[in-house]
Amino acid sequence: MARARTKRHIPERMERCKERWFENPLQNKGKWREVCGFLPECELFLEIGCGKGKFCTEMAVKHPDVLYIALERDSSVILAAIEKAHNEEIPNLFFLNVDANLLENYFEEDEVDKMFLNFSDPWSRRNKPKRRLTYRDFLVQYKKMLKNGGQIWMKTDNDILFDFSLEEFEFCGFELSELTRELQNSEYDKENVRTEFEQKFIDQGIGIKRVVATNRK
Ligand SMILES: C[S@@+](CC[C@H](N)C(=O)[O-])C[C@H]1O[C@@H](n2cnc3c(N)ncnc32)[C@H](O)[C@@H]1O
Repeated sequence: MARARTKRHIPERMERCKERWFENPLQNKGKWREVCGFLPECELFLEIGCGKGKFCTEMAVKHPDVLYIALERDSSVILAAIEKAHNEEIPNLFFLNVDANLLENYFEEDEVDKMFLNFSDPWSRRNKPKRRLTYRDFLVQYKKMLKNGGQIWMKTDNDILFDFSLEEFEFCGFELSELTRELQNSEYDKENVRTEFEQKFIDQGIGIKRVVATNRK
């Protein structure tokens, strides 16, 4: 009952936080820094599939000089993230309620410095690798919008998705580094910001797989 009631109020709640998200993101392609009131030289971080927003809110606070844009296709989920950013008055965090399929319509070539793919749907049981967010068709889009030397930081609990992604990154000419299958017990854990899903997997004793893929144009 509570869930249904919450869902019915999505438009009103989105409206209350309308300074945080963009109804027509197409028109901001190539102009995100300007539209969000940031200097042309500031870094732009982009997260795909931000869920309820634990990671993006913590990252935006940790990097106050960065313009952080978080994307999520499920409006009932992104609403929690948007309200969090709104209530905590985080000035450098904005949202897009869109599907990553259309990403190249929203970001210009070389516009993005860093991307985050955290615990993306593995599509392993349904055997639909083309839907994975690290499938080469997606990586080609990411390569275009990322600067030369720009990075994708990927984390997952899923070995099949991880192995698939490593192959796809290499196929598309990304340089791989900081690879671990046990992030929580690695040297990289100190600086790591955990996501909602990540914390659940760690509590279950699952090793977190993590890699940084650097764009070479
Ligand atoms: C398993 S959840 C992980 C959420 C969060 N990143 C975390 O680690 O806690 C994956 C999220 O990605 C979103 N997602 C999956 N495919 C997407 C796509 N093509 N475009 C935008 N969001 C997507 C889902 O709606 C879901 O909220």
